This record gives sequence, C-alpha cells and structure tokens, in this order.
Amino acid sequence: MRKQIAAANWKMNLTYKQGEQLLDDILEERIALADHQQVIFAVPFPYLIMTSSELAGEANYFAAAQNCYHKKSGAFTGEVSAEMLESVGIKYCVVGHSERREYFSETNAMLAEKLDLCLAAGIKPIFCCGEPLTIREADQHNNFVETQLRESLFHLSAQQLGDVVIAYEPIWAIGTGKTATTEQAQEIHAHIRSVIAAKYGKKAADGISILYGGSVKAGNAKELFSCPDVDGGLVGGASLVAADFTKIIRALS
Ligand code: PGA
Repeated sequence: MRKQIAAANWKMNLTYKQGEQLLDDILEERIALADHQQVIFAVPFPYLIMTSSELAGEANYFAAAQNCYHKKSGAFTGEVSAEMLESVGIKYCVVGHSERREYFSETNAMLAEKLDLCLAAGIKPIFCCGEPLTIREADQHNNFVETQLRESLFHLSAQQLGDVVIAYEPIWAIGTGKTATTEQAQEIHAHIRSVIAAKYGKKAADGISILYGGSVKAGNAKELFSCPDVDGGLVGGASLVAADFTKIIRALS
C-alpha cells in the first residue's frame, strides 16, 4: 500500500519558540499513525535539529527541509546542500516549490540537479509541480505538469523514483483559499500517475505517493484525501495551527 502523507510546509513563518510550541501541541494529541501513514514537517533550516529531536521516538513522523542547493558543495555563500541535510539526520526535502520557482528563478533543469543530489545523499525529495492560473484557464495543465515531470524527474531510474514523493500544487490554489475541487484534483493526479506509468510501468506508478497542495484545510482534507489518486497533502497556512493540522492528519486514509 502506498504511503499516505500529511506534510506541513511552514514556509518562512514562526519563531523558534512558536515552532517548538506548535510541534508540542500537535504531538500532545498522540495521533497514532498506521504503518502506511506519515507526517512530515518542512521547517526553516534553523529549526531542523529542534524538529528532529521533538519527533525522535515518534514512529512515522519526520522533519524535512524546504529546499537545498543544486550544487554539491563549494563557494555558494548562504546555501545549504543535500549532503549537509543528511549529515544532521534529515530524511526529506521539498524540491521545486512554486514559490522557489517564481521568486528564486528555479528551473526544471536546476530541480533535476537537486533531485540527483538529494537521492545521492539518501534524502527523499518531495517534488512539487503545478500550473499557474493562465495555463489552467487555457486547459493546458496536463501538458504543463507533464513537461515539469519530464524535465526534472524522468532521467531518474525506476529505483530512484521509488524514493520520490510528488506534490501537485496548482499555483492558483496556493495561499488563496481557492482549493481545487475533488474532481480537478483526482483528474490531474490520475494523469500524473498515468504519465509515470507510461515511463516507468504500472508498478512504479502505483507505488508513488502524489500529494495535493493548495489551500488544504481542516474542512476539506477528508474529501480531497478520499480521492483514489490523492495520497495526502502538502499544507501551508493550515499547518501553522495545531487544531487544524491535527484534523488534517486525522483525515489521512
Ligand atoms: P497553502 O500552501 O496550504 O497555504 O495553500 C500550500 C503550499 O504552498 O505548500
């Protein structure tokens, strides 16, 4: 059974103390996860070690980085490598979030390099894809996302792909309160899975978790996660409120 994942993306929010308190409040709920369920917290770099130590001993709870650099090491002041993340015990890293693509000019080719570096370091990438509103309105979203996958992911071996989580995040739904309908989410998730099946075979496609992101809330998570090809969510705003994020965790199939 493929993994069902509730992933929090804190983005550039919360102080250290607030982050610690949020984790405490969520863990206090003692939500027992089934073997196929995972909760991941993508937190700012300075909070990674605190988050890992908060989660130590909690089965199926993980800390994740929100980004890493697309070069292995060297004179890149201010950047953080996949290898550095691995060296402090991090197991997951978000790659290619639309905010990184938009504000930091990350290209599909750079993201391909990041995926390679994460996988070489033993870090599972949470690879984000998704279209802007104009592409959705022109009914080109399937092609757009397919290109993102082809240019960043399709050089990987089937074995490497087994360590990748995909997050489909339509840009028009991120932070806007405008969620994709379950029909829209299911349709494109099924398309992503079929594109992967065509390249890597049905077994690989059936095994890969595809998360939905874009205004996932406590009130809509259950419906979204009940779609057969939606394997959980990548959650921004609602992950900053303990009561909301715990409901989202409980909505996992
Ligand atoms: P949102 O963000 O839940 O606030 O829409 C999702 C994301 O950007 O990962």
